[in-house]
Amino acid sequence: MALSRFSGKEIEDFCSFLSREYGLSFPPARYSFVENRIEPLMADFSCRTLSDIILRARRDLKLRMDLLNNLTTNETWFFRHPEHFAILRRNVLPELLARKKKTGDNRISIWSAGCSAGAELFSILFALLDVLPDTEKFNLQLVGSDISSEIVKSARQCTFNSHQMRLIDQRTMTRFFTVAGHERWCVKPEYAKMVEFEVLNLLNSWPARSYDIIFCRNTMIYFDSDNKQRLTERFFEALNADGYFFTSANEMIHVENLAGIRKVFLENEIIYQKSGGRREYCIFHFVTPADLLRALNILKNNGFDYQLEKIQSENQLEPTRSICINRSDMPNIQELFNLSSIKILNIENLSR
Ligand SMILES: C[S@@+](CC[C@H](N)C(=O)[O-])C[C@H]1O[C@@H](n2cnc3c(N)ncnc32)[C@H](O)[C@@H]1O
Repeated sequence: MALSRFSGKEIEDFCSFLSREYGLSFPPARYSFVENRIEPLMADFSCRTLSDIILRARRDLKLRMDLLNNLTTNETWFFRHPEHFAILRRNVLPELLARKKKTGDNRISIWSAGCSAGAELFSILFALLDVLPDTEKFNLQLVGSDISSEIVKSARQCTFNSHQMRLIDQRTMTRFFTVAGHERWCVKPEYAKMVEFEVLNLLNSWPARSYDIIFCRNTMIYFDSDNKQRLTERFFEALNADGYFFTSANEMIHVENLAGIRKVFLENEIIYQKSGGRREYCIFHFVTPADLLRALNILKNNGFDYQLEKIQSENQLEPTRSICINRSDMPNIQELFNLSSIKILNIENLSR
């Protein structure tokens, strides 16, 4: 066993901190990985002990971001696990588009959660554009999110190397990319603008959006089993009725006890589908912008999922803003708002 500069207790406490604060799970077998990734950071931030890092991380945003950037593995490539993209093209997207046509709903929303440099989200976009004849008729929302601000910055540049592009065929290459330098390619601007990337820690609150398809692959490996299970349940909550969830085989989840979730066996793979039914929300309207701001802080600090909504009012030139939350959270949230004397104008129910 390699010699460690930290005591067993020190590294154990540090990994408990990583699990508690960021949901990152490092079992003893991965302690040496943590040490290797943390050493350069200790030098950069003049920390002598792991406790120094814990103390500093609480108030130093730069150190916190570097810590997360160093401890997460961002490896990704286009059409990783090609079977998933075959299922997307042959089964999931045709079924989704037929359903949208039937209901007259023109919104397609897809989330790559733990997107790394963006290859996964662009692979989804390319598959979608292959089967979608008239893009302009649809309102597409393709979102990639990652905990690492560095990797999100890189995803927004839409530039990839030959290693990440190794499974891309010539037709896809010519249609969607331009050469960006030696062994580097850039997604053409007209396609790059069809996706968006944002920084998001999956263990914190999320925008209360809903999706037709969610991919979360090679990301939940970082989480302990409780966080993984809770996260999976939140993904299913965020899916629209009949929406699909893709995850990797090594992140297999337990859905047996989850109502309305079924396993779908396709091409020797398992994906998950939510059964029909609409999702229930509440919209809070506030008396003043100050009430709204305080309400937002409360939701953020208490880890609730929410979405800031623009409500166009006929009597006002400016849109007013409201907060949309999941209906099941409403009693707890209302109690918190009351305790803080936040003035609520009214609460509206919404299902979509
Ligand atoms: C190995 S990459 C997988 C990328 C892509 N999904 C794929 O399969 O190719 C895992 C990504 O998960 C991100 N990640 C780890 N913990 C996360 C968290 N708590 N919230 C959001 N993203 C996280 C990492 O930063 C990393 O970019």
